[in-house]
Amino acid sequence: MDPASLMPGKIRILDQTRLPTELVYIDTTDSRVVWNAIRSLQVRGAPAIGVTAAFGVAAAVQDAAKSSLSELRAVTEATAEYLATARPTAVNLFWALDRMTRCARALPDMMQAEAFRLRLIQEAMAIRDEDAAMCRTIGQHGATLLRDGMTVLTHCNAGSLATAEYGTALAPVYAMHEAGRRIAVFADETRPLLQGARLTAWELTQAGIDTTLICDNTAAQVMKEKRIDAVLVGADRIAANGDTANKVGTYGVAVLAHAHGIPFYVLAPTSTMDPACPTGAEIPIEERSADEVIHGFGRQTAPTGVRVYSPAFDVTPARLISAIICETGILRPDYSRSIPLAVQASTCHTRAG
Ligand code: MRU
Repeated sequence: MDPASLMPGKIRILDQTRLPTELVYIDTTDSRVVWNAIRSLQVRGAPAIGVTAAFGVAAAVQDAAKSSLSELRAVTEATAEYLATARPTAVNLFWALDRMTRCARALPDMMQAEAFRLRLIQEAMAIRDEDAAMCRTIGQHGATLLRDGMTVLTHCNAGSLATAEYGTALAPVYAMHEAGRRIAVFADETRPLLQGARLTAWELTQAGIDTTLICDNTAAQVMKEKRIDAVLVGADRIAANGDTANKVGTYGVAVLAHAHGIPFYVLAPTSTMDPACPTGAEIPIEERSADEVIHGFGRQTAPTGVRVYSPAFDVTPARLISAIICETGILRPDYSRSIPLAVQASTCHTRAG
């Protein structure tokens, strides 16, 4: 599923806050609407945020009534700076915006305005297409770690809704299913915003995959009952040492997997790796509003005014991660050695303009 694509003159965003009951699209060229869509989780998931922001920059440049290249470059940079403030944790947002601004800077000064505009659309489309291709490859690598008849547990949504297509954590599940191999998924519901219940359960059942929804606090029990063969999760940012930020609750699942001797795999493209961030301690963690916890299910579930702490992400230490699967292959500890090699081998970090 393509979460954000360019219609003639418009970006089309599937509003994920309305799932699983309504299929509603937002069509826009307005970067404020794009910013709000990212901030409010109408589009969410690290790669999907990056792709959407790239299209947001391309759309702003199409709309700008400017004709000089320096003016169009200024619009590119200002829009990128603005969209970068939408959410702080997923590094794909900054990676994609950086790529758009580097593309704009690298274009020759003699270029016509129309050619510049077209080039930025092409760059956004390349970011989307490369993400789809990376996810497919992650699926193939990840599937080699799984056997016919296995059951995996996942947290949050790192499926096709969270990427240009196919997903990261769910990519091996789709790959197995397409190859006619049996695979079942336990999906954590993922409090407070229920990405597991609303999104993962929705997309997996749409695909005809054997899916069981569990409350977050059921994960320990299903592991003890020996129903889980592996844990597959996505990532919002992977530090240079392998520490991984992902949806809050992921760290707890990793501790549980470790306690039960179950492999814990992180699946993410190299665009989610941040070599400039030495460890998880330096990853900025977004805090969400108390209202998302107090009014979680469309009605008030906690007393008005109660103090709430709601980090959107937590950091799983590298020592709890059995392997990181990216498009260049399966990385094993020591991640401070394997991650730089993967980043070097990937084309997505070197491509510019
Ligand atoms: O707050 P969200 O819904 O954007 O959080 C998403 C996650 O934590 C995903 O697991 C992560 O972005 C990986 S998506 C392939």
